[in-house]
Amino acid sequence: MKRVGVLTSGGDAPGMNAAIRAITRCALDQKWTVFGVRRGYAGLIENDIEPLSSREVGGIMQLGGTVLGSARCPEFELEERRRQAIDHLGARGIEALFVIGGNGSQCGAAALTDLGFPIVGVAIDNDLVGTDISVGVDTALNIALEAIDRLKTTATSHQRAFLVEVMGRDSGYLALMAGIAGGTEVVVIPEIDTTPEAVASELRSAYVRGKAHALGVVAEGASYDGEKLAAYFREHRARIGFDLRVTVLGHVQRGGRPTAFDRVLATRLGAGAVESLARGEQGVLIGMVGGHVQATPLAEVAGNKKIVDPGLLQLSRVLEA
Ligand code: F6P
Repeated sequence: MKRVGVLTSGGDAPGMNAAIRAITRCALDQKWTVFGVRRGYAGLIENDIEPLSSREVGGIMQLGGTVLGSARCPEFELEERRRQAIDHLGARGIEALFVIGGNGSQCGAAALTDLGFPIVGVAIDNDLVGTDISVGVDTALNIALEAIDRLKTTATSHQRAFLVEVMGRDSGYLALMAGIAGGTEVVVIPEIDTTPEAVASELRSAYVRGKAHALGVVAEGASYDGEKLAAYFREHRARIGFDLRVTVLGHVQRGGRPTAFDRVLATRLGAGAVESLARGEQGVLIGMVGGHVQATPLAEVAGNKKIVDPGLLQLSRVLEA
Protein backbone atom coordinates (compact mmCIF):
# COMPACT_ATOMS: atom_id res chain seq x y z
CA MET A 1 0.00 0.00 0.00
CA LYS A 2 1.29 3.44 -0.96
CA ARG A 3 1.32 6.47 1.30
CA VAL A 4 1.12 9.76 -0.59
CA GLY A 5 1.08 13.47 0.29
CA VAL A 6 -0.61 16.42 -1.40
CA LEU A 7 0.14 20.14 -1.12
CA THR A 8 -0.86 23.41 -2.77
CA SER A 9 1.92 25.93 -3.29
CA GLY A 10 2.49 29.52 -4.49
CA GLY A 11 -0.39 31.84 -5.37
CA ASP A 12 -3.79 30.31 -4.64
CA ALA A 13 -6.01 29.60 -7.65
CA PRO A 14 -9.73 28.88 -7.94
CA GLY A 15 -10.00 25.15 -8.59
CA MET A 16 -7.18 24.06 -6.26
CA ASN A 17 -9.75 22.50 -3.93
CA ALA A 18 -11.23 20.41 -6.72
CA ALA A 19 -7.71 19.11 -7.46
CA ILE A 20 -7.14 18.26 -3.76
CA ARG A 21 -10.47 16.45 -3.66
CA ALA A 22 -9.82 14.48 -6.86
CA ILE A 23 -6.30 13.48 -5.80
CA THR A 24 -7.49 12.41 -2.34
CA ARG A 25 -10.49 10.40 -3.49
CA CYS A 26 -8.73 8.79 -6.48
CA ALA A 27 -5.76 7.87 -4.26
CA LEU A 28 -8.09 6.40 -1.62
CA ASP A 29 -9.74 4.46 -4.41
CA GLN A 30 -6.32 2.93 -5.16
CA LYS A 31 -6.25 1.91 -1.45
CA TRP A 32 -3.45 4.40 -0.76
CA THR A 33 -3.22 6.47 2.43
CA VAL A 34 -3.34 10.23 1.83
CA PHE A 35 -1.69 13.02 3.83
CA GLY A 36 -2.38 16.74 3.39
CA VAL A 37 0.54 19.14 3.82
CA ARG A 38 -0.52 22.57 5.11
CA ARG A 39 0.86 25.87 3.65
CA GLY A 40 2.81 24.33 0.76
CA TYR A 41 6.56 23.88 1.04
CA ALA A 42 6.61 26.02 4.22
CA GLY A 43 4.40 23.41 5.95
CA LEU A 44 6.54 20.62 4.53
CA ILE A 45 9.66 22.15 6.10
CA GLU A 46 7.77 22.69 9.38
CA ASN A 47 6.37 19.14 9.36
CA ASP A 48 2.76 20.35 9.22
CA ILE A 49 1.33 17.14 7.74
CA GLU A 50 -1.94 15.37 8.64
CA PRO A 51 -3.86 12.42 7.19
CA LEU A 52 -6.68 13.37 4.78
CA SER A 53 -9.95 11.46 4.60
CA SER A 54 -12.65 11.42 1.96
CA ARG A 55 -15.01 13.38 4.26
CA GLU A 56 -12.41 16.10 4.87
CA VAL A 57 -12.31 16.92 1.16
CA GLY A 58 -16.12 16.98 0.86
CA GLY A 59 -17.96 20.27 0.25
CA ILE A 60 -14.81 22.12 -0.82
CA MET A 61 -15.06 22.07 -4.60
CA GLN A 62 -17.11 25.26 -4.86
CA LEU A 63 -14.78 27.20 -2.55
CA GLY A 64 -12.07 29.52 -3.85
CA GLY A 65 -8.54 29.38 -2.43
CA THR A 66 -7.19 26.16 -0.96
CA VAL A 67 -8.31 24.35 2.18
CA LEU A 68 -4.71 23.16 2.67
CA GLY A 69 -3.39 26.71 2.67
CA SER A 70 -0.52 27.92 0.50
CA ALA A 71 2.65 29.95 0.79
CA ARG A 72 5.54 31.45 -1.13
CA CYS A 73 8.61 29.73 0.31
CA PRO A 74 11.95 31.16 -0.88
CA GLU A 75 13.67 29.00 1.78
CA PHE A 76 12.86 25.92 -0.31
CA GLU A 77 15.58 26.99 -2.75
CA LEU A 78 18.07 25.73 -0.15
CA GLU A 79 18.95 22.05 -0.59
CA GLU A 80 19.19 21.69 3.19
CA ARG A 81 15.49 22.64 3.53
CA ARG A 82 14.46 20.25 0.77
CA ARG A 83 16.33 17.40 2.47
CA GLN A 84 14.56 18.33 5.73
CA ALA A 85 11.22 18.15 3.88
CA ILE A 86 12.07 14.71 2.47
CA ASP A 87 12.97 13.54 6.01
CA HIS A 88 9.54 14.67 7.29
CA LEU A 89 7.81 12.77 4.48
CA GLY A 90 9.99 9.70 5.05
CA ALA A 91 9.22 9.69 8.79
CA ARG A 92 5.56 9.08 7.90
CA GLY A 93 6.36 6.54 5.25
CA ILE A 94 5.13 8.90 2.52
CA GLU A 95 6.53 7.63 -0.77
CA ALA A 96 5.32 10.26 -3.23
CA LEU A 97 4.02 13.85 -3.23
CA PHE A 98 1.47 15.67 -5.42
CA VAL A 99 2.35 19.34 -5.93
CA ILE A 100 -0.51 21.57 -7.11
CA GLY A 101 1.10 24.84 -8.17
CA GLY A 102 2.54 27.19 -10.78
CA ASN A 103 6.00 27.73 -12.19
CA GLY A 104 7.91 28.43 -8.96
CA SER A 105 6.20 25.49 -7.24
CA GLN A 106 7.02 23.10 -10.11
CA CYS A 107 10.67 24.29 -9.95
CA GLY A 108 10.60 23.19 -6.28
CA ALA A 109 8.99 19.92 -7.38
CA ALA A 110 11.74 19.36 -9.98
CA ALA A 111 14.38 20.03 -7.32
CA LEU A 112 12.77 17.40 -5.02
CA THR A 113 12.74 14.96 -7.94
CA ASP A 114 16.45 15.64 -8.46
CA LEU A 115 17.00 14.56 -4.84
CA GLY A 116 15.27 11.27 -5.68
CA PHE A 117 11.81 11.94 -4.20
CA PRO A 118 8.87 10.94 -6.47
CA ILE A 119 6.70 13.94 -7.41
CA VAL A 120 3.68 14.42 -9.65
CA GLY A 121 2.69 18.05 -10.32
CA VAL A 122 -0.68 19.57 -11.26
CA ALA A 123 -0.62 22.71 -13.41
CA ILE A 124 -1.64 26.13 -12.05
CA ASP A 125 -0.89 29.40 -13.99
CA ASN A 126 -0.94 29.55 -17.75
CA ASP A 127 2.69 30.40 -18.37
CA LEU A 128 3.54 26.76 -17.52
CA VAL A 129 5.00 24.60 -20.25
CA GLY A 130 3.25 21.19 -20.42
CA THR A 131 -0.35 22.33 -20.47
CA ASP A 132 -2.57 24.26 -22.88
CA ILE A 133 -4.67 25.60 -20.03
CA SER A 134 -4.13 25.69 -16.27
CA VAL A 135 -6.42 25.50 -13.26
CA GLY A 136 -7.79 28.93 -12.25
CA VAL A 137 -7.30 30.67 -15.59
CA ASP A 138 -10.93 30.41 -16.69
CA THR A 139 -12.21 31.85 -13.40
CA ALA A 140 -9.67 34.72 -13.52
CA LEU A 141 -10.69 35.43 -17.10
CA ASN A 142 -14.38 35.54 -16.23
CA ILE A 143 -13.69 37.99 -13.40
CA ALA A 144 -11.75 40.23 -15.80
CA LEU A 145 -14.63 40.00 -18.28
CA GLU A 146 -17.18 41.03 -15.70
CA ALA A 147 -15.07 44.10 -14.91
CA ILE A 148 -14.69 44.95 -18.61
CA ASP A 149 -18.42 44.53 -19.30
CA ARG A 150 -19.31 46.74 -16.33
CA LEU A 151 -16.76 49.42 -17.22
CA LYS A 152 -18.06 49.48 -20.81
CA THR A 153 -21.33 50.87 -19.44
CA THR A 154 -19.72 53.94 -17.91
CA ALA A 155 -17.21 54.25 -20.74
CA THR A 156 -20.11 54.50 -23.19
CA SER A 157 -22.30 56.77 -21.06
CA HIS A 158 -19.49 59.25 -20.37
CA GLN A 159 -17.26 58.80 -23.42
CA ARG A 160 -14.40 58.06 -21.02
CA ALA A 161 -11.46 55.81 -21.69
CA PHE A 162 -10.81 52.93 -19.28
CA LEU A 163 -8.04 50.43 -18.78
CA VAL A 164 -8.34 47.23 -16.75
CA GLU A 165 -5.08 45.86 -15.34
CA VAL A 166 -5.04 42.09 -14.97
CA MET A 167 -2.61 39.74 -13.23
CA GLY A 168 -0.35 37.22 -14.95
CA ARG A 169 3.13 38.17 -13.77
CA ASP A 170 5.36 38.31 -16.93
CA SER A 171 2.77 36.70 -19.16
CA GLY A 172 0.29 38.60 -21.33
CA TYR A 173 -2.01 35.59 -21.78
CA LEU A 174 -4.80 36.71 -19.44
CA ALA A 175 -4.74 40.27 -20.80
CA LEU A 176 -4.88 39.07 -24.39
CA MET A 177 -7.73 36.63 -23.76
CA ALA A 178 -9.66 39.21 -21.72
CA GLY A 179 -9.17 41.72 -24.54
CA ILE A 180 -10.48 39.28 -27.16
CA ALA A 181 -13.44 38.08 -25.07
CA GLY A 182 -14.22 41.58 -23.78
CA GLY A 183 -13.97 43.27 -27.18
CA THR A 184 -11.55 45.96 -26.04
CA GLU A 185 -9.84 48.53 -28.24
CA VAL A 186 -6.30 47.95 -27.01
CA VAL A 187 -4.30 45.20 -25.30
CA VAL A 188 -0.96 45.96 -23.62
CA ILE A 189 1.18 42.90 -22.85
CA PRO A 190 4.77 42.37 -21.66
CA GLU A 191 5.67 40.36 -24.76
CA ILE A 192 5.17 43.35 -27.11
CA ASP A 193 6.80 46.72 -26.43
CA THR A 194 4.54 49.73 -26.66
CA THR A 195 4.52 53.38 -25.58
CA PRO A 196 1.87 55.45 -23.76
CA GLU A 197 1.57 57.54 -26.94
CA ALA A 198 0.72 54.43 -28.96
CA VAL A 199 -1.91 53.45 -26.36
CA ALA A 200 -3.37 56.97 -26.46
CA SER A 201 -3.51 56.90 -30.22
CA GLU A 202 -5.26 53.49 -30.29
CA LEU A 203 -7.86 54.68 -27.77
CA ARG A 204 -8.35 57.98 -29.63
CA SER A 205 -8.80 56.19 -32.94
CA ALA A 206 -11.70 54.22 -31.41
CA TYR A 207 -13.55 57.53 -30.92
CA VAL A 208 -12.57 58.66 -34.43
CA ARG A 209 -14.05 55.40 -35.83
CA GLY A 210 -17.34 56.34 -34.17
CA LYS A 211 -17.19 54.21 -31.03
CA ALA A 212 -18.80 55.59 -27.90
CA HIS A 213 -16.24 53.93 -25.68
CA ALA A 214 -12.52 53.24 -25.62
CA LEU A 215 -11.42 50.38 -23.42
CA GLY A 216 -8.20 48.51 -22.97
CA VAL A 217 -6.61 45.69 -20.99
CA VAL A 218 -3.11 45.95 -19.62
CA ALA A 219 -1.09 43.09 -18.12
CA GLU A 220 0.52 43.79 -14.75
CA GLY A 221 3.91 42.74 -16.17
CA ALA A 222 3.86 45.19 -19.12
CA SER A 223 6.67 47.77 -19.10
CA TYR A 224 3.92 50.42 -18.98
CA ASP A 225 1.49 48.93 -16.44
CA GLY A 226 -1.78 50.52 -15.32
CA GLU A 227 -0.16 52.88 -12.84
CA LYS A 228 2.47 54.14 -15.30
CA LEU A 229 -0.08 54.64 -18.06
CA ALA A 230 -2.46 56.49 -15.72
CA ALA A 231 0.39 58.79 -14.59
CA TYR A 232 1.35 59.49 -18.21
CA PHE A 233 -2.23 60.32 -19.21
CA ARG A 234 -2.61 62.65 -16.18
CA GLU A 235 0.57 64.49 -17.06
CA HIS A 236 -0.34 64.89 -20.73
CA ARG A 237 -4.13 65.24 -20.31
CA ALA A 238 -4.41 68.52 -22.22
CA ARG A 239 -2.56 67.29 -25.29
CA ILE A 240 -4.14 63.80 -25.32
CA GLY A 241 -7.62 65.29 -25.07
CA PHE A 242 -9.41 62.75 -22.88
CA ASP A 243 -9.19 61.12 -19.42
CA LEU A 244 -7.99 57.61 -18.76
CA ARG A 245 -9.29 55.76 -15.68
CA VAL A 246 -7.48 52.61 -14.60
CA THR A 247 -8.99 49.74 -12.60
CA VAL A 248 -6.43 47.35 -11.13
CA LEU A 249 -8.07 43.97 -10.48
CA GLY A 250 -5.13 42.44 -8.59
CA HIS A 251 -5.98 39.60 -6.23
CA VAL A 252 -9.73 39.99 -6.89
CA GLN A 253 -8.95 37.76 -9.88
CA ARG A 254 -7.74 34.93 -7.68
CA GLY A 255 -10.69 34.94 -5.31
CA GLY A 256 -14.19 33.52 -5.35
CA ARG A 257 -15.93 30.44 -6.68
CA PRO A 258 -14.20 28.49 -9.42
CA THR A 259 -16.10 28.20 -12.70
CA ALA A 260 -17.46 24.84 -13.86
CA PHE A 261 -14.59 24.68 -16.36
CA ASP A 262 -11.95 25.05 -13.61
CA ARG A 263 -13.65 22.49 -11.37
CA VAL A 264 -13.75 19.91 -14.17
CA LEU A 265 -10.22 20.71 -15.34
CA ALA A 266 -8.82 20.46 -11.79
CA THR A 267 -10.70 17.20 -11.25
CA ARG A 268 -9.39 15.67 -14.48
CA LEU A 269 -5.80 16.78 -13.78
CA GLY A 270 -5.99 15.57 -10.15
CA ALA A 271 -7.34 12.19 -11.26
CA GLY A 272 -4.71 12.09 -14.02
CA ALA A 273 -1.97 12.75 -11.45
CA VAL A 274 -3.03 9.70 -9.41
CA GLU A 275 -3.28 7.53 -12.55
CA SER A 276 0.17 8.68 -13.60
CA LEU A 277 1.72 7.71 -10.24
CA ALA A 278 -0.17 4.41 -10.28
CA ARG A 279 1.41 3.69 -13.70
CA GLY A 280 4.80 4.21 -12.07
CA GLU A 281 5.48 7.67 -13.53
CA GLN A 282 7.12 10.34 -11.41
CA GLY A 283 8.95 13.64 -11.88
CA VAL A 284 6.17 14.79 -14.21
CA LEU A 285 3.65 17.61 -14.52
CA ILE A 286 0.07 16.69 -15.37
CA GLY A 287 -1.50 19.12 -17.82
CA MET A 288 -4.13 19.28 -20.56
CA VAL A 289 -2.61 19.05 -24.03
CA GLY A 290 -4.79 18.92 -27.13
CA GLY A 291 -7.81 18.03 -24.97
CA HIS A 292 -6.05 15.10 -23.32
CA VAL A 293 -4.58 14.73 -19.84
CA GLN A 294 -0.85 14.42 -20.42
CA ALA A 295 2.33 14.01 -18.36
CA THR A 296 5.39 16.12 -19.19
CA PRO A 297 8.76 15.63 -17.45
CA LEU A 298 9.29 18.30 -14.77
CA ALA A 299 12.79 18.82 -16.19
CA GLU A 300 11.14 20.24 -19.35
CA VAL A 301 8.72 22.38 -17.32
CA ALA A 302 10.89 23.93 -14.59
CA GLY A 303 12.20 27.38 -15.43
CA ASN A 304 10.66 27.43 -18.92
CA LYS A 305 7.83 29.71 -19.96
CA LYS A 306 5.07 29.24 -22.50
CA ILE A 307 4.83 32.10 -24.98
CA VAL A 308 1.56 33.71 -26.05
CA ASP A 309 0.31 32.89 -29.52
CA PRO A 310 1.21 35.82 -31.82
CA GLY A 311 -1.72 34.83 -34.06
CA LEU A 312 -4.13 35.65 -31.23
CA LEU A 313 -2.59 39.09 -30.79
CA GLN A 314 -3.03 39.69 -34.50
CA LEU A 315 -6.66 38.54 -34.21
CA SER A 316 -7.32 40.91 -31.32
CA ARG A 317 -6.02 43.80 -33.50
CA VAL A 318 -8.34 42.87 -36.35
CA LEU A 319 -11.32 42.65 -33.99
CA GLU A 320 -10.59 46.06 -32.48
CA ALA A 321 -11.83 47.71 -35.69
O1 F6P B 1 1.59 33.67 -10.01
C1 F6P B 1 0.27 34.04 -9.84
C2 F6P B 1 0.15 35.48 -9.44
O2 F6P B 1 -1.20 35.77 -9.17
C3 F6P B 1 0.71 36.48 -10.44
O3 F6P B 1 -0.21 36.78 -11.46
C4 F6P B 1 1.02 37.65 -9.57
O4 F6P B 1 2.01 38.47 -10.12
C5 F6P B 1 1.51 37.00 -8.31
O5 F6P B 1 0.89 35.72 -8.25
C6 F6P B 1 1.23 37.76 -7.05
O6 F6P B 1 1.82 37.07 -6.00
P1 F6P B 1 1.44 37.27 -4.46
O7 F6P B 1 0.00 36.91 -4.27
O8 F6P B 1 2.37 36.38 -3.72
O9 F6P B 1 1.66 38.73 -4.19
